[in-house]
Order: sequence, then structure tokens, then C-alpha cells
Amino acid sequence: MQDKVDSILAEITNASAVNQAELEEYRLKFISKKSVIGALFQELKNIPNEQKKDFGIKMNELKQAAQVKFQELIVSANSTNSVESSEHVDLTLPPADGEPGSMHPLNYVRYQIIEVFERIGFNVADGPEIEDDWHNFTALNFPENHPAREMQDTFFIERDPDILLRTHTSNVQTRLMLKQKPPIRSIMPGRVFRNEAISARAHCVFHQVEGLYIDKNVSFVDLKQTLYHFAKEMFGKETKVRYRPSYFPFTEPSAEIDISCQICHGDGCQLCKYTGWVEIAGSGMVDPNVLSNCGIDPEEYTGFAFGMGIERITQLKFRVNDLRLYTENDVRFLKQFRTLH
Ligand code: PHE
Repeated sequence: MQDKVDSILAEITNASAVNQAELEEYRLKFISKKSVIGALFQELKNIPNEQKKDFGIKMNELKQAAQVKFQELIVSANSTNSVESSEHVDLTLPPADGEPGSMHPLNYVRYQIIEVFERIGFNVADGPEIEDDWHNFTALNFPENHPAREMQDTFFIERDPDILLRTHTSNVQTRLMLKQKPPIRSIMPGRVFRNEAISARAHCVFHQVEGLYIDKNVSFVDLKQTLYHFAKEMFGKETKVRYRPSYFPFTEPSAEIDISCQICHGDGCQLCKYTGWVEIAGSGMVDPNVLSNCGIDPEEYTGFAFGMGIERITQLKFRVNDLRLYTENDVRFLKQFRTLH
């Protein structure tokens, strides 16, 4: 029996398929109900009881190996054989299951956020995901030993000089200030990376939208009113907004922005930890050091900045309470958003 398992495994490992016929041959031999593996499962009943468990495990591994190889063969047969197969494709046919795809909820919310800010005069700016230490940290006034620079938070690609995956989209703010004279009124949506263990509440890849407004006489009132407007547009007129003093290296003063909990509407629930409030963004007046680091005269100009996580906003809008759902590509999750456009 063990010999049979081994020899089938060897056959699977060496199998190849360059066209549909050979793929089908592989499927019949190793995957279908009448496959050699299926036959082996039949033989399981003749095995002494005390060996059954071990063999069962081996058989399942074998079955799985056959499946994995089958997927590989499908991919390779399709790519080596693209000319032949494309001759048979009828592009006028409707998709096999007749179901249209749906917009990913993160994209939907990203577009909504952009729309709210575009209507009040912000444009969209973009920048690199692979960044150097200066644009991601130093220019933004992070002290030399700030914990965010440490290994546990940042994915470093190279050290000395440090090249990393940006930990926030603030690197685009740095780049914008360096190349554009104020007034600057931009938002920066994008993907960011942090070295976190993946769980329902944390992920190593997520999305932010940051905003920057720099001009003469920009004040904290402008910051408050802009984000107040955003919260009401995004979550509805009844939503309450509050600003809590906070700290960021690149803003002074800084505030975190909370809105009334969208799930319990202030009554208290698990999401808002029974406070009735949930945090949606960080913000503050751009620190004068940051302005001068980026070649803007802090005596002449002031500005505010803010940053929010798109996953968080999406969670509040659609009650998604496990961050992993966003990247798992499970169609049962994605299908629930079919009506979005
Ligand atoms: N960059 C901050 C973060 O990633 C968010 C932020 C942006 C806070 C701008 C204040 C001002 O957490």
C-alpha cells in the first residue's frame, strides 16, 4: 500500500500537460472518482484498524498533492497553449456563470472619499510605495529613535541608506511640498505597509487617504471645518464629530477625530468599546519644521494635514469586522457588494 502511494506521488510529481487533452487525461487518472487515488481509498477498508488513521492521513495528502498539481498544470497548459486555445474562444459568449463582478468595497469607499474632497477643491496626488527613510520619516520630523522607524513597524528593503515600504501615505505630502509651491490642496490615497501580525484587527497591508492643505493663513478652524464637512458627507448629517488632542511628529497641535459610533449610534457597543465614539482620522497643523524641511517658509505659510484608514471607514459603513476579509478574495464576501457602483 505504501509503495502504491509513493509511486502515485512520483507520477504526480512528474506529470505534465501541454494541452487540454493531456489535462483531461491527468484529471481522469488522478482527480476523478474513478482515479487511481479513488481506487486506493476503496482499499482503505482492507487495512488493519490500527494503521487506518496513518494511512488516511497519507491518502488525504496524496489527494491534495494531486489537486495542487492539477491547478499548476491548468495554469501551465493554458500559457504554453495560448495560441491553440484562443482559436477556440468565442468572445461573444456570456460569462459562464452569468454573474457580473462587483466593485471591491475598499475601492468604492476610496472613490467616495475622493469625491467628497474633490467637491471642495482638493486634487488627488500619488507617490511611490517603495520609499527612502528621508521622505517617509526624517522630513516629517520623526526623531532619530522614534519607535515607528524600528524593525517591528517598518518593512525595510535595504539598510544604510534605508529603503523601505512606506508606512503611511505622508511620503506623498513630502514629495508634493518639495515640488509644488503653495497653495497645495491635495489628498493622497494609497497602499501602506506595516510589519504587523495579521489578525481580524491588524494587517500588514492597508490603505490610507491623507490630505494636505497649505496656503497663507490656513488655520485650525479650516482643519476642523473641512473634516467636519467630510464626516457629515460620508456618514450622514446626524453624525456627531469631536476632536481629541493627540500627538504626531509632523503636526503641532495634533488632534484625533472621532465620530459617533455608526453601529450603536452612541448607545455603546463592542466596536466603540461602549464609549459611543470611534476614531476615524489623525490630523493637525503641519509642524513648521516639516515645512522648512520641504523648502516652504513657515513664516509665510501654514497648513493642516490629516490621514485616515480606508479599511476603518469601510468597516463603519458596511460593518466589516475582520480586516482579513478585504484581501482574501472570497467571492461570498465580494458578492455582497454587487449593488455598489
Ligand atoms: N500619517 C499618520 C498615520 O499614518 C496619519 C496622519 C496624517 C496624522 C496627517 C496626522 C496628520 O498614522
